[in-house]
Parts: sequence; C-alpha cells; structure tokens
Amino acid sequence: MAEDLFITKGAKAEQYQSLIPQIKGLLEGETDLVANMANVVAALKEQFGWLWVGFYVVKDDELVLAPFQGPVACTRIKKGRGVCGTSWAQAQTLIVPDVEKFPGHIACSSLSRSEIVLPVIRNNEVVAVLDADSAELNQFDTVDQQYLEEILAMVNF
Ligand code: SME
Repeated sequence: MAEDLFITKGAKAEQYQSLIPQIKGLLEGETDLVANMANVVAALKEQFGWLWVGFYVVKDDELVLAPFQGPVACTRIKKGRGVCGTSWAQAQTLIVPDVEKFPGHIACSSLSRSEIVLPVIRNNEVVAVLDADSAELNQFDTVDQQYLEEILAMVNF
C-alpha cells in the first residue's frame, strides 16, 4: 500500500518534471498574459487529463473566468465563495479531496469529485487563481501544489 502510494507520487512528480521545461519554453519570449494562461492550461490538461483546469482573474472585486480547458464553467465568483473564492480570501492553496465535503463548493460540473485551487500572488495581492478539478476523488496533494506553484511563478501576471 505504502509502496503503491510512493509509485503514484513518483510518477506524478516525473510528469511535472518533464512538463515544466516544456511550459517554460512555451512562455519564453511571449508577453501576452492571455496567450500564456491559455497555453499553461492546455499543457496541464494534455498531461494530466483532468476534468477541468483554468484560471479565474480578479477584476472589480470578483473572480472572472479566464483561459480554461474543459466543460463550460461559472463566469463570476465572489470573494469567500466556493473553493476559488475561499482560496482568494485566504490567499492560500486549498486541496479538496472530496468536493461534497467542502461547505459552499460551487459545482460547475456535477462530474467534479476533487479539486485544487492555488492563488496567484503578486505584490502581496491575489491577482488570479488556478483551479483544477478531477472526476476522481483524492486526486490532488502537496506534490501538485509544489509543481503548480513553480509553474505559476513562471507566468507574467
Ligand atoms: N468548484 C469551484 C468553481 C469553479 S469550477 O469548478 C470550474 C469552486 O467551488 O470555487
């Protein structure tokens, strides 16, 4: 059991390690933020096959839907609402192993079972969040957090 877990985690870390240089290459020399967000979520969706992965950006005190891959999603989320709005309010990454157990979770898709949301912080302000949803329970952990933070640090917000 412990060995299985180790193998799974190792495989995931390897996937990120091969993906990160590719994402770095995609972002290099491009200054357009929308283009860069679009390629980051496309690369993540291709690599991991998650149900949904995308950005929400802070605009006029709301989160507004930005480049994403997956089914259509809610366009605006208020501060403190759902996993995304809570991550924004707390300026912290939230890992949700079972979305049904997160009070106030916003179900953009009934297929979503687990989720990770990371804030993008620039000059001490949350300027966006990255949200990934899986159709499987327990899909996200601190390995995802570590590598997704590394990826977010490369994006020119
Ligand atoms: N589940 C999120 C809403 C965004 S969608 O999953 C794309 C939330 O609770 O904030």
